[in-house]
Amino acid sequence: MKTGFGLILACLALAACDPAGRDSEMDAFIDNLMGRMTVEEKIGQLNLPAGGDIVSGQVFETDLAELVSSGRAGGFFNVKGVERITEFQRLAIEKSRLGIPLLVGADVIHGYETVFPIPIALSCSWNPSAIERMARISAVEASADGVNWTFSPMVDICRDARWGRIAEGSGEDPWLGSQMAAAYVRGYQGADMSHDDEIMACVKHFAAYGAPEAGRDYTAADMSRQKLYNCYLPPYRAAIEAGAGSVMTSFNLLDGEHPTASRWLLDGLLRRQWGFDGMVVTDYNSISDMATLGLVEAPEAAAMSLKAGTDMDMVSNAYLNTLGDSYRKGLISMEEIDRACRRILEAKYRLGLFSEPYKYCKPQRAETELYTEEHLEAAREIAAETFVLLKNDGNILPLQKKGKIALIGPLADAGNNMCGMWSQLCVDSRHISLLQAFKEELGNDAELLYARGSNLYYSEKTQQYATGRRSIPRGDDNALLREALRAADEADVIVTALGESCEMSGESASRADITIPDAQRHLLKRLVATGKPVVLLLFTGRPLVLDWESDNVPAILNVWYAGSEAGHAISDAVFGRTNPCGKLTTTFPRAVGQEPLYYNYLQCSRPPWTNEHFVAYNSNYIDVANTPLYPFGYGMSYTTFEYGSPEFSSDRISADEPVKISLTVTNTGNRAGVEIVQLYIHDCLASLARPVKELKNYRRVTLQPGESKMVEFTLTTDELKFYNSNLELVYEPGDFEIMTGPDSGHLTVKLIKGI
Ligand code: BGC
Repeated sequence: MKTGFGLILACLALAACDPAGRDSEMDAFIDNLMGRMTVEEKIGQLNLPAGGDIVSGQVFETDLAELVSSGRAGGFFNVKGVERITEFQRLAIEKSRLGIPLLVGADVIHGYETVFPIPIALSCSWNPSAIERMARISAVEASADGVNWTFSPMVDICRDARWGRIAEGSGEDPWLGSQMAAAYVRGYQGADMSHDDEIMACVKHFAAYGAPEAGRDYTAADMSRQKLYNCYLPPYRAAIEAGAGSVMTSFNLLDGEHPTASRWLLDGLLRRQWGFDGMVVTDYNSISDMATLGLVEAPEAAAMSLKAGTDMDMVSNAYLNTLGDSYRKGLISMEEIDRACRRILEAKYRLGLFSEPYKYCKPQRAETELYTEEHLEAAREIAAETFVLLKNDGNILPLQKKGKIALIGPLADAGNNMCGMWSQLCVDSRHISLLQAFKEELGNDAELLYARGSNLYYSEKTQQYATGRRSIPRGDDNALLREALRAADEADVIVTALGESCEMSGESASRADITIPDAQRHLLKRLVATGKPVVLLLFTGRPLVLDWESDNVPAILNVWYAGSEAGHAISDAVFGRTNPCGKLTTTFPRAVGQEPLYYNYLQCSRPPWTNEHFVAYNSNYIDVANTPLYPFGYGMSYTTFEYGSPEFSSDRISADEPVKISLTVTNTGNRAGVEIVQLYIHDCLASLARPVKELKNYRRVTLQPGESKMVEFTLTTDELKFYNSNLELVYEPGDFEIMTGPDSGHLTVKLIKGI
């Protein structure tokens, strides 16, 4: 049976799109609806209260049901379960005067019930198809459970490992980040958001949330426009060009302004320059935060935000409580209210909610489409692509399934910690631990010894802060160590599962000391001191300082937080069912004092950057080398690859004549493997200093043992452009270094002339 809205839609037999690309049928429908709305009802659409299943800030006292039935909510977020969501949707449709359906948002960040690796890990696959696949599955599951809007992708560039939310993004590179950003959107929104299993994406946090001072969450970002345009904005833009339906503003200051109330950012850049015609939502409580930040009080903050182009108020209730008065006092116009209301209604229309309000409320889908075998298989496959092999002396890895293997560490038997931050919508107890996965894999082939080995931290309080509700049991430090040394003593090889607990990264999880926590590091030192071969399986949501580990531990496999199938996927890699192929998208420092540390820095007047030893009056440190411990783009494999020297079709490039670059890559080991071949440029002389290296492309090649493949790139002058001091995107002819190789630290350079 068609609803009232369905009938109206069916009666509007207008052409679908006018020449300006507008959907005239949608426009007519919304004109008609808005013509019947009171000011209060319009303002109601701009309100987004929290459901409270996920707490990402202070949860506000709101009676959600009352708000919905009185038409004072345009949607809600972070409520789990199709039945409960259907109840709210029913209240909106049947009880509110106009029966306008609700947006149902959720932080579906790297999976829903089937959880995939955390986003920083996903980016290390350098495989947008894997990200698209994970986003597609996430959308299928979330939509089956009632959700129609995800607060993802988070595309904030981050160059500082102290910031916990580095885990949520795609790393430090704008070009690669842009490829990933678009892939998320394609996956969530599918063809056009109109199918049952397609949901609206929300690009966040606009803009430059990833540059908080000192890596401390929520602190101000302050930067030149050139840096913003060249480094931070590209991924947001890529997501918008891929069709993202919504944008979330950032809730930290950018250049002293609140992005939520910034006219130049929202109305100017986002809407007018980039042509974004979707809806803009604030981040959690942003409008009220403006008073705390010493900017403006609620009524003015709300009016400023509305005028700037923020359509929906997440949680603060400032739109709901103040816009009506502000309108009556003439501080805001009806046109401004209408503009925001229209954008929200358009999002609902594009999602198909008006023609089928219960489109996402089908309990039978929730019964059959969540956490399926097929989704878990995908999670396992994708996880395998995200592991980064940092070190493998003497080819310790993969391990053979024989003899006695000791698995030691507080993360070895922590199934509740496998999914990583932002995975509260999943069911923790379902996920097997590494220990269980090792047992399954080894069967009777080898003897498995296990010891927890240490607490996460010596300090109980710090451990509590670090684990939150995903607690890891504690024991007596000495007894745990003794047990570990006993197991180590018996074993032929020691596999350690150490690092950060899963809640040590993500929101509100900044760290000033980014080493492996004290108790675990001491455990590792004692295990290495036994002289037995030691493998470090590193769990982390950020780059860690691994100075001692990289000098002393023979094999290090960074497994990040790999999701529902972490146990199986890690065990697959350890025992050689899969071959690691991930490469870092974020630089690993030697010391925290190097942060922010990233590969695409601007040259300074006192090079060389690569000094291994201190040179007075150079730009370096007395006590630590400038170079990273593991550079951007770095990652090993169980096999080896040899790079032939690159051939260039010409030593000149122009707008009409791109340059073709080709090189041969050979698998020189005895296992099949995937290699990620990278292309960088450097603009040698320009009107503004340019980064020493900038990634411009890459190829993923699968090679059998002994196999060679020709890898080809086409470089155009588009890739050589940058935003100049007038913020114009320009190509400036001159000399360019073109670099190819396996990572940003090992490149072959050739000079070409740009004309
Ligand atoms: C985070 C957002 C998130 C929102 C809703 C905020 O604290 O910054 O990324 O989408 O909460 O949960």
